[in-house]
Amino acid sequence: FMTELISIKDSSKHVGEEVRMHVWLTDKRSSGKIIFLQLRDGSAFFQGVVRKENVSDEVFATAKSLYQEASFYLTGIINKDERSHFGYEIQITDLQVVTNNEGYPIGNKEHGVDFLMDHRHLWLRSRRPFAIMQIRNTLFKATVDFFEKEGFIKFDAPFFVHSAPEGTTELFHTEYFDHDAYLSQSGQLYGEVGAAAFGKIFTFGPTFRAEESKTRRHLTEFWMMEPEMAWMNHAESLDLQERFLAYITKQVLENNQYELKMLGRDPEKLRPTTEGNFTRLKYDDAVKMLQDAGRDFKWGDDFGAPDEAYISEQFDRPVFLINYPTSIKPFYMKKDPENPNEYLCADVLAPEGYGEVMGGSERESDYDTLKAQIEAAGLNLEDYSWYLDLRKYGSVPHSGFGMGFERVIAWICKLDHVREAIPFPRTMNRLRP
Ligand code: 4AD
Ligand code: MG
Repeated sequence: FMTELISIKDSSKHVGEEVRMHVWLTDKRSSGKIIFLQLRDGSAFFQGVVRKENVSDEVFATAKSLYQEASFYLTGIINKDERSHFGYEIQITDLQVVTNNEGYPIGNKEHGVDFLMDHRHLWLRSRRPFAIMQIRNTLFKATVDFFEKEGFIKFDAPFFVHSAPEGTTELFHTEYFDHDAYLSQSGQLYGEVGAAAFGKIFTFGPTFRAEESKTRRHLTEFWMMEPEMAWMNHAESLDLQERFLAYITKQVLENNQYELKMLGRDPEKLRPTTEGNFTRLKYDDAVKMLQDAGRDFKWGDDFGAPDEAYISEQFDRPVFLINYPTSIKPFYMKKDPENPNEYLCADVLAPEGYGEVMGGSERESDYDTLKAQIEAAGLNLEDYSWYLDLRKYGSVPHSGFGMGFERVIAWICKLDHVREAIPFPRTMNRLRP
């Protein structure tokens, strides 16, 4: 007879039972005959209680000697505990230490964010990063599920590339044997290849931008998810984007109440997003909104972070900003036939001041028009010959968009900075650990 080895997350199914667990110690408090061990096992956090009268002297002494991040097996009985955040605790009867070393650098006192980021390899064990990464995982799974249900396949774009879809200023350059190469800033152009081959695809992987800006929303390496849909116009793409954001937000509300509570994130702030019904605001009207609020903004400028924050604060759910002037968007977009100075494009601004989390458009599908737009953008036609082939053979109306994964996570978790949304953030000043 072996006592069952369970995870903390499954405690609710074992109330009153004796179980085994493998855990790490996050914190310890003792008073005379009782020791409270704060435990984690990767699935959740909860409390273990060691009472002198329940254990041998040896086990009590061992429990007393444990340092933060000691790893051990334990045996005990699960109790319901209304006072604990998790709702359960374990009354420990036995434990066997695996590792127990002094000096773990992250304590319960306040540490500066630079210190914590320098210790990111350890900090990820703490409650806050734990909650954020669990939500990141839910959003990843929800994204894959959503697109699978909608009939998409995952299609992988390369990371080494020879050309630039989003403009040449933020490219990371690298040597590639005898050639120059860049790290991909977007998988979109390859995604369009995929759409012509498979109808509906999405890419999902890291993208790279040599962002010199030190803002709370820019990483140099971030994950982007980019769907591309053949035979789909701009309006249909907006409907899809709305369904997508409603779905993934709902999945977080259904699966991550524990983590949202750990983060102090009010789940009700996310509820409106699950209802869809996002406003579609024209660029011109957004400009008016800013000017009416007395903000210094000229028509024709791109929105800065504070402008986006102001606009997004006017809504309780994401808002589409549509029909930007062609001068401030990339070459591949399709012009609005009714307003040739505007693109059939949309940025999605997340509420609560988060600003842009997604951007997309209908793509120009006419060969000559696209060729002219590439030339007008000052790009080398030769680099885009394969992309132009898509317009020569079997070109169809198609649309797509890109989601900045860390931006979405930052909004859902209400983070101050996107660097907390990825396990190992890369910014201008950070390349380690
Ligand atoms: O708006 P962007 O530049 O659009 C594209 O790359 C298109 N090719 C997407 C498409 O239509 N397939 O980037 C898309 C999203 C932005 O909305 C933003 O959320 C995120 O990527 N993003 C960043 N996230 C973190 N750090 C950065 N430096 C980012 N730059 C863009
Ligand atoms: Mg954009």
